[in-house]
Amino acid sequence: MDEYLDANRRNWDDRVDGHMAPDGYAVDELVNNPDHLTDVVCFDAERLGPVDGLRLLHAQCHIGTDTLSWGRLGATVTGFDFSPKAIEAARSIADRMPIGATFIESDVASADQNVEGPFDIVYTSVGAICWLPDLHGWAQVLAGLLAPGGRFYIRDTHPALLALDDERSDDAIVTIYPYFHEPTPMNFPDEQSYLGSATLTHRDAYEWSHPLSEIVNSLLDAGLVLDRLDEHQHLDWKMFPNMIAEGGRWYLPPEIRNRVPTQFSILAHKPGG
Ligand SMILES: C[S@@+](CC[C@H](N)C(=O)[O-])C[C@H]1O[C@@H](n2cnc3c(N)ncnc32)[C@H](O)[C@@H]1O
Repeated sequence: MDEYLDANRRNWDDRVDGHMAPDGYAVDELVNNPDHLTDVVCFDAERLGPVDGLRLLHAQCHIGTDTLSWGRLGATVTGFDFSPKAIEAARSIADRMPIGATFIESDVASADQNVEGPFDIVYTSVGAICWLPDLHGWAQVLAGLLAPGGRFYIRDTHPALLALDDERSDDAIVTIYPYFHEPTPMNFPDEQSYLGSATLTHRDAYEWSHPLSEIVNSLLDAGLVLDRLDEHQHLDWKMFPNMIAEGGRWYLPPEIRNRVPTQFSILAHKPGG
């Protein structure tokens, strides 16, 4: 397992320079415009609810642009990620902003040893769980970092969408990847990241499929109470060649939009408090 995670870490380290570049994550806009929030946080803020004055942990925070947006909304933010280059970049962005933020290098599996809780909110989103071999352990660790009464929120790519052939440019919806979990990951080598024009040196990237039932049941098994499960029709990036940009988000063509969900979001809480 370690060999897959090590390859993924190298791959994510490699993506950071490109994501920090001007054609990457719009870092300068975030730093220089005191009203700017990432599109991801704008969408999730409506579903997660108020964060002002609360301790928020962002799992798999990457270069911290969403983490810092939550900070801008008044949360006391901590982000963790297993990529040392991503954490270094996140700290460098935070240094340019008047927002106190803590960024910690940690794998998900050992976050309970590396991150000091508890938190009022544990948040994770957009391209997180496909990198994880063990969702049961993921849910146990994140739920353990929540204070009683605290909220857990995830938004991620819908597993039904991840089973589809994403290279077709016609409107056919064709499954070519597993929907249900398989212990051996799929390798999707890439020359470039999804943003930025930098070329990757470490191209291997290993992903695991996790059906919706596994995601929900992992959270329930970790003792969380489910408050809401939603399915959505947009993505934050262009996954299929025939996707259409509307208001900064990517949608399937109108004729097939109702046939498959693109993302899910879950709001849950830890009992007590
Ligand atoms: C697509 S990003 C998600 C963050 C956010 N959506 C963004 O775009 O900023 C995925 C992140 O997960 C991190 N990651 C992947 N596997 C991990 C693991 N096992 N433990 C901790 N972080 C991990 C990667 O380093 C990467 O920063």
